[in-house]
Amino acid sequence: MPDTANPQPACSQGRVIVSDHALVKHKLALLRDASTTSFQFRALVRELATLLAYEATFDLSLVEREIKTPLARAHGHALAEQIGLVPILRAGLGMVEAIWELIPDAQVWHIGVYRDEETLQPVHYYNKLPQSPTVDICLVLDPMLATGGTAVATIDALKEWGVRRIRFLGILAAPKGIETLSEAHPDVDIYLAAIDEHLTPPPSEPGDLPEGYIVPGLGDAGDRQFGTQQD
Ligand code: URA
Repeated sequence: MPDTANPQPACSQGRVIVSDHALVKHKLALLRDASTTSFQFRALVRELATLLAYEATFDLSLVEREIKTPLARAHGHALAEQIGLVPILRAGLGMVEAIWELIPDAQVWHIGVYRDEETLQPVHYYNKLPQSPTVDICLVLDPMLATGGTAVATIDALKEWGVRRIRFLGILAAPKGIETLSEAHPDVDIYLAAIDEHLTPPPSEPGDLPEGYIVPGLGDAGDRQFGTQQD
């Protein structure tokens, strides 16, 4: 677990990179807060996505290019690779626009996988990827890496499509989700704002939370973004 009280540079635990940025910590606390409105929650997801994408894209390949400024010629760079953004539906949708603002030429691909609430297993329901890959690197987006099943299934589909370089961008993860994703796809770097304690167990009595929620977490990231909480 990262020491969340002591600022450190972004630290790498194997292939898990937890941001130690002061803004990330500040915004994450607001995101977790049960009194944060849907409107504020959506803005915070976008802001955190921007900050995490900054870290997750720091080493993208570049080509050199020559630019003419109003005064003289100058050397510069351009992104060399085609980048794909792959939001995990539905909560990952809230991260897309923010990263698209940073990388306007990115392609956005949708792969529909949901987590069966009973079995917690991923179910594929939408995939219209063309036959050959049209991107060099994919950023898979989901604010919550809980059991890891949906992330693994999405990355399976991307690898089957032929994409070899994939990174996962989340906001919160449970240790179980990190373990599942790292075991299935050890080549995929995981960028996060924080690692939480555990997942909720199966409910034992009426009124208990459903299984597989991140604790302390922030609740249901899809419901909180889209205003669909059932109180
Ligand atoms: N998905 C969510 O939205 N929240 C969790 O805590 C786990 C999965």
